[in-house]
Amino acid sequence: MTRLIELSDVRKLYDGGAKHPALNGVSLGVERGEFLAVMGPSGSGKSTLLNLVAGLDRPTSGRVLVNGRDLGRAGEAELARYRRSGVGFVFQFFNLLGSLSVLENVMVAAQLAGSGTAAARQRARELLAQLGITDQAARYPARLSGGQQQRVAIARALVNRPLMLLADEPTGALDSRSGEQVMELLVELNSSGQTVLLVTHDAKLAARYAGRVVSLVDGRVADDVVLQASTASPAEVVRVRVEEVAG
Ligand SMILES: Nc1ncnc2c1ncn2[C@@H]1O[C@H](COP(=O)(O)OP(=O)(O)OP(=O)(O)O)[C@@H](O)[C@H]1O
Ligand SMILES: [Mg+2]
Repeated sequence: MTRLIELSDVRKLYDGGAKHPALNGVSLGVERGEFLAVMGPSGSGKSTLLNLVAGLDRPTSGRVLVNGRDLGRAGEAELARYRRSGVGFVFQFFNLLGSLSVLENVMVAAQLAGSGTAAARQRARELLAQLGITDQAARYPARLSGGQQQRVAIARALVNRPLMLLADEPTGALDSRSGEQVMELLVELNSSGQTVLLVTHDAKLAARYAGRVVSLVDGRVADDVVLQASTASPAEVVRVRVEEVAG
């Protein structure tokens, strides 16, 4: 079976002529079921990488394959469909719609992908239950804590059963306890098979929760490390360096 995600020599130059490419020859494969953390300093290309995988942008050169499909060559309609139901995106600042209730925020993502109202409501309720926020269904985002809002955003991201969950600094706006709870939720979802790509600045969180950490420096993969987290104690992380990527 083909890999879920396969990037080959991907370059991304914004505005065509920037001196420093945001991505400068990234090759990376991600299997179904992985929990991959992407780390790196500010400006190293993490969000650019996630946006290309999400079909929000196209590479300047190189290929981004998802499920064997070349996103760089996909038509606009195909790409729009992929963005709506192929990926679930979670952001630092939740991006919930303030005028809709929690339940409606989750439902609307299903409806935009073509679900009828009844089916969307049922799927949204199912996710709120799974994520432990059923009692928040009728409330409005502004009344929730950051951690609760991020749970709603994760429910929304999962509503169309995406191939992968993409999270760009999902704990960046949360206190450390809420951040840990969000990470624990991502681990739980990953344990039930959900592929997760997480961008984070936080090396501790990455080492503690992710199965693999890819580090970007200046738009290149500087390091790619597989971690075997012990389920008994996340602190006892066995680091196994699988490959040294030539810099
Ligand atoms: N839309 C854009 N137009 C022009 N340049 C951009 C755009 N988005 C990103 N860049 C540039 O591309 C490079 C990589 O940016 P990117 O946002 O991917 O970094 P990042 O690793 O996510 O950083 P941060 O940790 O600060 O979020 C940076 O030099 C940035 O200024
Ligand atoms: Mg970023």
